[in-house]
Amino acid sequence: MLDGELGEAKALAMKLVAALGDVFGAKRTVRVKSVQISGVSYKTIGDHGLEFVVDLRDKGGKFSVPSTINPAGMDLENWRRMGIPEWFAKKQLRIISALKDMGARVTCTCTPYLVGNKPKFGDHVAWAESSAVVFANSVLGARTNREGAPSSLASAIVGRTAMYGMHLKPERSPTHLVKVETRIRNELEFSLLGYVIGEKVAKGVPFIFKFKGNCTSDNLKALGAGMATSGSIALFHLEERTPEAKKIGEKKLKGLEKISIEERDIEEVKGRLGAEGPSTHVFLGCPHLSLRELKAIASILKGKELKEKIWCFTSRKIYGSAVKLGYVKEIEEAGGVVVKDTCMVVCPLERLGISNVRVNSAKAAYYLSSLSGLKPRLCSLKEIGG
Ligand code: F3S
Repeated sequence: MLDGELGEAKALAMKLVAALGDVFGAKRTVRVKSVQISGVSYKTIGDHGLEFVVDLRDKGGKFSVPSTINPAGMDLENWRRMGIPEWFAKKQLRIISALKDMGARVTCTCTPYLVGNKPKFGDHVAWAESSAVVFANSVLGARTNREGAPSSLASAIVGRTAMYGMHLKPERSPTHLVKVETRIRNELEFSLLGYVIGEKVAKGVPFIFKFKGNCTSDNLKALGAGMATSGSIALFHLEERTPEAKKIGEKKLKGLEKISIEERDIEEVKGRLGAEGPSTHVFLGCPHLSLRELKAIASILKGKELKEKIWCFTSRKIYGSAVKLGYVKEIEEAGGVVVKDTCMVVCPLERLGISNVRVNSAKAAYYLSSLSGLKPRLCSLKEIGG
């Protein structure tokens, strides 16, 4: 591959994987079962990123393993309804078309595990998108480092990644013991707790024990996304809940740094990330909404007259199922919209004249403020429509 005998794109991609391996001291590469590619939105990658992807396609790049892609900068079909300018849409569509030509599944979601790219326990994968990485490692027991946009593209082409970090068992051992001294009541609190853990651990593998809260898959999605936003976290273990936690014995937990989290830590971060005051919009779906969450939103909104515009972000596959089950109709009858293929952070919201919003995610609050200059307020799903 490196010699270019298998084409220019493969040689380029293999050089990138090998260079990363050298930096991190990997002894070899490992085959991956799937790839999740980030750097899809034109808003985040700009013209340089666009040219990089198009060039890779033009050099003959073809994906050799199942590869799903992150949210784009707009709903690929209903971008006019979102108010996306034509020039932006044209550039976004060029990126999607190059990725599709190389063999990507046009999933446009940060929750690939909800739309068919769901690795099994022990599978090696090369995923970008920090919230998906932490879910894959922690909840599914798959093995992936936090890949970036170029390295995920390279792995998709060569079907391999460098064997270091989260691919090695010893690196997956806990480094911090985290005790949560308060009950975690809803998805917003899971997300804020994650953010607090990420800040306190910064880099490492937290082991959370004696936890009180409803650990649904959706809540764990929120927890991991929060952790991966404020910390360089790719994996957490949750006692009696995540697959590897069950195999970690007392011996491995001895002598670890202890962290205790109280209600006031969660309140403090909520105050820091969220502003006060009225809002014109509510954005839900960071990470992308599951079908169960869309069902819950539809039932919460039933019969309500909304003061704010509610935008729900999800993948196109979940959107299709939600249309069939009538959830989209119910949400739209209440004045909300369900937007697919994109998310509140990677679409050019700041160009759409929206500034005062409510969100139920610490990750959304952090990036809407730092990337888009918005002033988010925080609320839980149950508080919307009220
Ligand atoms: Fe997903 Fe966008 Fe949030 S990619 S995790 S919805 S910032």
